[in-house]
Amino acid sequence: MTPAPLSQRFRAVRERTLGLCAHATVEDQLVQPMPDASPTKWHLAHTTWFFETIVLRAPDPAFNFLFNSYYEAIGPRVERARRGMMSRPSLDEVIAYRRRIDERMSAALTAGAVDAALVELGIQHEQQHQELILTDLKYALGTQPVRPAYRDDLKQASGTAEGGWRSFDGGVVEIGADATGFAFDNERPRHRVFVEPFRIANRAITNGDVQQFIAAGGYGDASLWLSDGWATVTREQWTRPLYWDGEQHYTLAGMRLIDPDETACHLSYYEADAIARWRGARLPTEAEWELAASGDPTHGNFADDDILHPSRNGGPFGDVWEWTGSSYLAYPGFRPLGGAVGEYNGKFMSGQQVLRGGSCFTPRDHIRRSYRNFFPPAARWQMSGARLVEDGGLK
Ligand SMILES: [Fe+2]
Repeated sequence: MTPAPLSQRFRAVRERTLGLCAHATVEDQLVQPMPDASPTKWHLAHTTWFFETIVLRAPDPAFNFLFNSYYEAIGPRVERARRGMMSRPSLDEVIAYRRRIDERMSAALTAGAVDAALVELGIQHEQQHQELILTDLKYALGTQPVRPAYRDDLKQASGTAEGGWRSFDGGVVEIGADATGFAFDNERPRHRVFVEPFRIANRAITNGDVQQFIAAGGYGDASLWLSDGWATVTREQWTRPLYWDGEQHYTLAGMRLIDPDETACHLSYYEADAIARWRGARLPTEAEWELAASGDPTHGNFADDDILHPSRNGGPFGDVWEWTGSSYLAYPGFRPLGGAVGEYNGKFMSGQQVLRGGSCFTPRDHIRRSYRNFFPPAARWQMSGARLVEDGGLK
């Protein structure tokens, strides 16, 4: 299928962002419930700032300080943890700012006066923020006393996953994005790695697995946890995954009974790693994950399916981002993009783990087999889970 023209994709992505916000109240869009969860209003403005500053190269001095995220080359900015302190500009002013930049972008696209590669980056960037709008709104809604639903018209997932394991001989394999088509700089260059024989679970960790881990005293057994993980469990008093409350957990459709067959979500790397160790298994390296994820990357439960919650399918793509045991590092021969966007991915390559596969919050056309997401190991507000791996071949 031929991809839609850039101008059409630009408009569609910009409209979808506003569509996500249409289900939230004005007040929902202003709160910052923790430093990592930005207000929806900030996401709306920052994605616009990206087009204005990076693509149109004409930053508004008044907004540059407010909505720059982390670009040192562009200048100083509001501290991340204080994004929710800005009651001005108002939400209406931010929406008007979006409309203004959209008009300028449309004119520039029609005139062919923009760098198509940067427009593509801006579109992909906005899709990443669409997912963050959902994760951050879920945190804002799911951690307040009444825990309201984001939507009451979400679809229900269907289907069941097959269990079991798949074996791989390993050897010298290639991973990463090839030189054609869009990919982020951190997915390149494609390169060889050596992989020992391994077997990987056909489906991700389920809520039932987590319930068994809890029942076995997993959250209280230091021997199952990495040292930093155990320090986090102790300090934060973790006894169950985020959003779990007895037999129920918070979803964007409100509180729901926990389904043991559903893919588990909102696990930190520490929790995923401890559950794997308890099972006598481990998490895959990203090379193992990419080798095993040979199916169609567009096949899975993505945001387009309008479920916005993991299903029972458990395939490699969709449902949850899967933590890997690989630290987020540069591939051999990595070259960051030129200019300010060189700060997009490369400067975050310390202290984070790679996640793969996309989630039920990810737009379907945003994911690739080589896609590398990354978060710190204690992060649990993302739509994250994991898949188990064992060493050796056939089982
Ligand atoms: Fe951003």
